[in-house]
Amino acid sequence: MDSEIPVERVIVTIQSMGCGSSVKFKEKNAALIQLSAAQKYLVRETWELVEQRRSYVGKKTFLTFFEKNPEYQRLFPEFKDVPPSELEKTNALYGHAKRVMKAVENAVSALDDAESFAAYLDELGRRHKARALKPTYLDSMQTALMSTLQELLKSSWTEETAEAWNKLFMFVKDQMIPSIQLSAAQKKIVRETWEFVEQRMSYVGKRMFLKFFENNPEYKRLFPEFKDLSLSDIEKTKELHGHAKRVMKALENAVSAMDDAEIFAAYLDELGRRHKDRPMKPLHLDSVKTALIFTLQELFKSSWTEETAEAWNKLFMFIRDQMVRGLQSRA
Ligand code: HEM
Ligand code: HEM
Repeated sequence: MDSEIPVERVIVTIQSMGCGSSVKFKEKNAALIQLSAAQKYLVRETWELVEQRRSYVGKKTFLTFFEKNPEYQRLFPEFKDVPPSELEKTNALYGHAKRVMKAVENAVSALDDAESFAAYLDELGRRHKARALKPTYLDSMQTALMSTLQELLKSSWTEETAEAWNKLFMFVKDQMIPSIQLSAAQKKIVRETWEFVEQRMSYVGKRMFLKFFENNPEYKRLFPEFKDLSLSDIEKTKELHGHAKRVMKALENAVSAMDDAEIFAAYLDELGRRHKDRPMKPLHLDSVKTALIFTLQELFKSSWTEETAEAWNKLFMFIRDQMVRGLQSRA
């Protein structure tokens, strides 16, 4: 229990970092829990009922979790060798169950202002890394939690309630362990378009960065080599080609990592850290996205549809969000 990170402490730490830092976190996490007003209402309403039974819900969720996934027990040193039939009587089990319920409580309280809570989850995710936590484990925990809630709430558990809780848990999961959330259809679109882009990587990279500087001439100063050059001179530099190539390589990696983004997310986090002194801001990444989408649309002409744009937008948002994580990290 000693090493647990109280959410309050994270908030205080962030606030004590000076005004610059708290503004940065605001920019990063603004409007992250995307529940409609009706969904927030449903979550709060169910939580009122759940709160009184939280210890039961925590226990039951964990018993279901280990029943469905006995192999995850090995991650918990305190009860890794306890036979399943005795798990229910094992006190150590409830320590972690309590922590998860506390996080759920915090998520419900943070519905309207998730900023500090997101920073807490980010830190929690880092701590779980050492425990080899995979996104799929969180999916299983969500399934176990949802089935416990459904059983508890019986007929008042509706599809809408499930959807609202699902969204809330997705937020927790996403902050703890990033994953690229493209649907199967969106992944297919990205893979199909990428095959075409891949043949023209060098052209697309260059075109994208020229568009980036054309849209925002003031960003030239971010690259010491370009700051006094005209657009047509920039085009001839090996630096433009070099950086464009690096960004295209990141896109290539993103496409390959669509099904398992964990390692790639850590790479992007590190890349964001390396951009701290460039100095890069999240806004610059938004401009890269605009330039990328423009370039792809120009390339694909009439075969570029709204669905294609949406899929690429989502993929790039993943790159952006992970780089921003690193960019705004304290370490
Ligand atoms: C929403 C999901 C989860 C939340 C909110 C959560 C929360 C926490 C918290 C607050 C701690 C104490 C943090 C620390 O002291 O560093 C912790 C520890 C731990 N977590 Fe999680 N956890 C979640 C999911 C998982 C899952 C799915 C696993 C494994 C399958 C896991 C494995 C562990 C282990 C092994 C520890 C250390 C032992 C312990 O404190 O009981 N966690 N968790
Ligand atoms: C998705 C977006 C981006 C990706 C994937 C990316 C990737 C990279 C990589 C891999 C490097 C070499 C890293 C190193 O060795 O430390 C780099 C360097 C650099 N990046 Fe980025 N970058 C991106 C966006 C930006 C933006 C928006 C700016 C400026 C606003 C920027 C400015 C720089 C500068 C100045 C360097 C050093 C010079 C160079 O290596 O070309 N980057 N970037």
